[in-house]
Amino acid sequence: MATLKAAHISIRAGGFTNLMSRPRRSVSVRASDRLLTRQISTEAEAVASRLHKSGLLRTQGLIGGKWVDAYDRKTIKVYNPATGAVIADVPCMGGKETNDAISSAYEAFYSWSKLTAAARSRYLRKWYDLLIAHREELGQLITLEQGKPLKEALGEVSYGAGFIEFSAEEAKRVYGDIIPSPLADRRLFVLKQPVGVVGAITPWNFPLAMITRKVGPALACGCTVVIKPSEITPLTALAAAELSLQAGIPPGVVNVVMGNASDIGDSLLASTQVRKITFTGSTAVGKKLMAGAAGTVKKVSLELGGNAPCIVFDDADLDVAVKGALAAKFRNSGQTCVCANRVIVQEGIYEKFANAFSKAVQNLQVGDGFTEGVAQGPLINEAAVQKVESFLQDAISKGAKVLLGGKRHSLGMTFYEPTVVSDVNGEMLLSREEVFGPVAPLLRFKTEDEAIHLANDTNAGLAAYVFTNNIQRSWRVSEALEYGLVGVNEGVISTEVAPFGGVKQSGLGREGSKYGLDEYLEMKYVCLGNMNSN
Ligand code: SIN
Repeated sequence: MATLKAAHISIRAGGFTNLMSRPRRSVSVRASDRLLTRQISTEAEAVASRLHKSGLLRTQGLIGGKWVDAYDRKTIKVYNPATGAVIADVPCMGGKETNDAISSAYEAFYSWSKLTAAARSRYLRKWYDLLIAHREELGQLITLEQGKPLKEALGEVSYGAGFIEFSAEEAKRVYGDIIPSPLADRRLFVLKQPVGVVGAITPWNFPLAMITRKVGPALACGCTVVIKPSEITPLTALAAAELSLQAGIPPGVVNVVMGNASDIGDSLLASTQVRKITFTGSTAVGKKLMAGAAGTVKKVSLELGGNAPCIVFDDADLDVAVKGALAAKFRNSGQTCVCANRVIVQEGIYEKFANAFSKAVQNLQVGDGFTEGVAQGPLINEAAVQKVESFLQDAISKGAKVLLGGKRHSLGMTFYEPTVVSDVNGEMLLSREEVFGPVAPLLRFKTEDEAIHLANDTNAGLAAYVFTNNIQRSWRVSEALEYGLVGVNEGVISTEVAPFGGVKQSGLGREGSKYGLDEYLEMKYVCLGNMNSN
């Protein structure tokens, strides 16, 4: 509590001076960079102060409509990855708080699920309106705690809010069915009903959109939720939850707990009141959740890691392929599950593509997300940088060549140079696993069959990209790719109106679109007998 109070006092005093001035770890920063870091800090302080004034900088969990601390008063710190400074302290919650959040979601389920679809739709629409009205502040909050460039963060707010708007519309279209009966005295119906309480576990790379993508359809169907946002980026989740209250969504329908991830996860899994777990994150954690959900036979949807191939054929339009591959690879500094992980280029266009692509990558400005023109923010933390370094080292030791970048950026902290590596092959970690960073490995292929084989030679199956001007090939290859999403001549394909999800070990279920609602519904068959009697 003491830490939390200190946070509030400091924020109310008009600045985050104390909070923002404690670096998380020592990094060697050159004198000129120190000046830059100070400017960055000042900008972040101003943003934090504005956020606080707008009432959106919430630093407590939300249980049953009340903002609460951890019961033992423990806190965890939220950092700005661009500076290492502390933004705020939030409660480090565990099993007890989660169980209370589950109870309040369970209690709220009774009345929320009984509302008409039209009423739930109106609440969601109000929430959407508020998210859009606060787009600037939410975008700033995302940049502050996650690091992505402000323009991208604002894009995430529109994208994330879109799931709430779409869910508000779809809430009214949860149709059941009437089945022609094989017996004259019977009538057969199918009802669609909400699953119940949903545990939604979300990652740090899209602090808003991964929450709204789950909570929008859940609420539309009549479910209530306990959200566990990433401990790295909880502030956006809390701001969104605050706006859900301002939208009038009743207490207990949306709950947020954060802190001890395994205790919270275990409580969600153990509870018989939680009927569904929805998760976006690593494949390793997804497998544990799937196994854990077996104990109470819960529904599970999982959006897990990818290893996206980006196939460039000789017949591709070079400019389109460069632009598309750039967007697919470097969005969010390479930290999305759908980021191109392997750029697979046909031999006839390989050199031309490698040159043009490297030139485009070289133009990506790296820096604090609040700086105008910046296209690449910091990586989320030191572990992320070390992963990139170890993958690159592995590739170089096996014969890959660095065409561009290949090291930490001179800005220090977790900034990394946008990197292009050639002569990558299937033996290297860079092509076997998700690098989740700004490194584009180029692989070479000869034939269409070889490209398909290379692309499918992985346990992952989330997104794939194809660049070709041959219409027949675009169909053939899209059909042959073992992936849940395929972009043809396009590098950014996520939208709330289309189904998002993977095959193989990239996950189960779909999010977004009309299909996304099915994940939160149970189908009930009702047989009405004895119809011939009066
Ligand atoms: C993700 O990285 O999990 C989501 C990316 C997206 O929605 O495009």
